[in-house]
Amino acid sequence: MTLDLFGASDTGTYDRMGSAAGILRGFALPDVDALLPALADIQAASPFRHMITPGGFTMSVALSNCETLGWTSDRFGYRYSRVDPSHGRPWPAMPAVFLRLAQRAAAAAGFDGFAPDACLINRYVPGSRLSLHQDKNEVDSSAPIVSVSLGMAAVFVFGGHARTDKCFRTSLLHGDVAVWGGEDRMRYHGVLPMVDAPHPLLGSQRINLTFRKAA
Ligand code: SIN
Ligand code: FE2
Repeated sequence: MTLDLFGASDTGTYDRMGSAAGILRGFALPDVDALLPALADIQAASPFRHMITPGGFTMSVALSNCETLGWTSDRFGYRYSRVDPSHGRPWPAMPAVFLRLAQRAAAAAGFDGFAPDACLINRYVPGSRLSLHQDKNEVDSSAPIVSVSLGMAAVFVFGGHARTDKCFRTSLLHGDVAVWGGEDRMRYHGVLPMVDAPHPLLGSQRINLTFRKAA
């Protein structure tokens, strides 16, 4: 496998990562012009912030959320919250363009009827990373995870069901959509420290939208 940090995605291809996991290359590209202004509206209502992990560390990734349930972290643990803890009001609604994209990507990867109630928005800058973890704060793990990449390229690490299982690495480029569900739903994954390779549209940042069915 080659790690192409700078090139364009091979739009239209599906890179399989497991029997129920893969990457739809360039799938979100036609929606980018509509996604970015919708993202700006969310940021105005619920700005990106660095949360504290239960272990007391400040996350290098800044986050926001939209839709009913927002993923949060503090010293007491990871959880979903109906309100943005920075001001106590609900998270912004999920823009129609977000939902349509998530549902079309899920269906293209073999998961019909995806109905996300949570959309975590992560912002990475050079040096930001996300250590190996499982998405396990969701009550309903029958639905897939749909993860949209925008801006700078990242090296995504996808492992097995145990933290120590062998991992596979691939780059996630602007417009790529990774989907994992079914027997692959609980696989460990993470993002290596970001290298500064500014993106023409988004500059020195990467935005990731993670759609989940949390409740
Ligand atoms: C996540 O696992 O929550 C995000 C993965 C990514 O940024 O690609
Ligand atoms: Fe995750």
